[in-house]
Order: sequence, then structure tokens, then C-alpha cells
Amino acid sequence: MRGVGIFDSGLGGLCAVRELRRLLPEEDIVYFGDVARIPYGTRSRETVCRYAAQDAAFLVSKNVDAILVACGTVSSTALEELKARLSVPVVGVVEPAAEEAVKASRNRKIGVLGTQGTIASGAYKRAITRLSPDAQVVSVACPLLVPIVENGETDGEIAHLALQNYLKAPLAAGCDTLLLGCTHYPLLKDKIASLAPGVALIDAGQAGANATARLLRENRLVYGTGKTELYTSDFSQGFSTLAQRFLQDESIQFSKEKVNAEDWK
Ligand code: DGL
Repeated sequence: MRGVGIFDSGLGGLCAVRELRRLLPEEDIVYFGDVARIPYGTRSRETVCRYAAQDAAFLVSKNVDAILVACGTVSSTALEELKARLSVPVVGVVEPAAEEAVKASRNRKIGVLGTQGTIASGAYKRAITRLSPDAQVVSVACPLLVPIVENGETDGEIAHLALQNYLKAPLAAGCDTLLLGCTHYPLLKDKIASLAPGVALIDAGQAGANATARLLRENRLVYGTGKTELYTSDFSQGFSTLAQRFLQDESIQFSKEKVNAEDWK
């Protein structure tokens, strides 16, 4: 099949699938979520690069025309390696999200939330200051947010306390824009909005989907009948519930075939 391939370390990238389906309803999409090896955000750069190469190789085997890396961690740490390896265009979420954040910010004070790997890479900060050299970037590693989302605790007290803590520095610095640099965080958007009223929220997955739609249109690579194929490397407990929270479309189901990402090179 032709179309676009999208992958993430887990199910968070399904938000990008949802967004791309909205932008390009006719596009065929193949998604791979590496649920068996999540989280990537706590792993070494070397491991993330290896996992990303395998995930992308699986999508290439499906003959996709382009790949969207719907994972903040992979986009921050392994994008250049992926681009060098693959013959199809590869879009990450960092540059598009940085662009949207710079456009949204009036006072050029931008907070960035991400996994440990993402924040340690400094990729968002570099991308923002490349576009706006005098921007002040307050980056915060948020290791508790992915487990909170994965466990469906987004509305409870734990999420509230964790976010209060993570938002302290960007809010104290007067950031008028917060970049949600991990594809799991859209499920916390309402909570973040209530703790940071008046602050613009930029969703990295959505920004990546916008950039991918532009690339496909510009290169006349929009094909298909709106078919979406979803694959995963594991069916963990609570898998379907979490997938639906991200995707919000019960008409699309995951393939029963479990993909062993280690098989792909
Ligand atoms: N999808 C990852 C990201 O966007 C978060 C989960 C993980 O740590 O693998 O950074």
C-alpha cells in the first residue's frame, strides 16, 4: 500500500493519526506503536536510535511514501539518523512544534515539557532559538506524565500535583506559550489549560501532522481511500481503552497481528 507511515513508542502517536485523518481524509495511513518497548523517554540515545530504525523499517516494508515520527523522544534524539537511513521523507515533531510555538508566543518566553530523553537532548530549545534567537526557553523533564497517562490517571489528584510541580518554573518565568513536546501529553491538555490559564498550548503531535499534510500535498503524495492500518508490538493490559482515548474513533481497530520490531533492520 502507499500512503504515510506513522510511528511512536506507544499509543500517543494515535493523536497524530487522528489529526492527519482530519486534515487528509483520503490519505492511507499505516501506524506502528511499539507498546512492547515503551518507554523510550528514559533510554539511552543509542537504544532509541536502534528502536527507531526498526520501527521505521517495518513501515518501509509497507511501501509508505513518507514517515511521520509521532514521538517527541525519537524526533529529538534520532531524527537525523533516520533521515540518513531512509529513502522516503521523514518528518519529526520538533521543528514543526517549535515553529508553531514561536508563532504563538508574544513575549518570546516559551516553556517546553518533554520526557527526560527529549529534554536532555536540548532539541526543542535549539529549534526555538534558531527561529527566535532571543527567545527564553524554560525546559522541564516530566518523567511522571507518561505513566500517569498510560494508567488513565489524567483527571485525578496525582496528575494535578505532578503538573503543578512541572509548571512551576515556566509559569514563574512568565511563559505565555507551553510546548507539549511528547505525544502523550494531549490527554493532559485540559488539566494543563486549567493550571496555566491564558497560556497558549502547542501540541507536538498535531504540529507534526500539519507538517506532514503540507509535505504530502506539496509533493503530490496524497493517495488512497482513507484506509488506516494500525499495528502494535504488544497488546498490554488496558490497551484498547488507552488506544481509544488517543484515537477517539471506534471504527478503526488494531490488526490482530503482533509485530516483533526486533525482526526489522
Ligand atoms: N511517545 C513518547 C514521546 O513522545 C513518550 C513515551 C515514551 O517515553 O516512550 O516522547
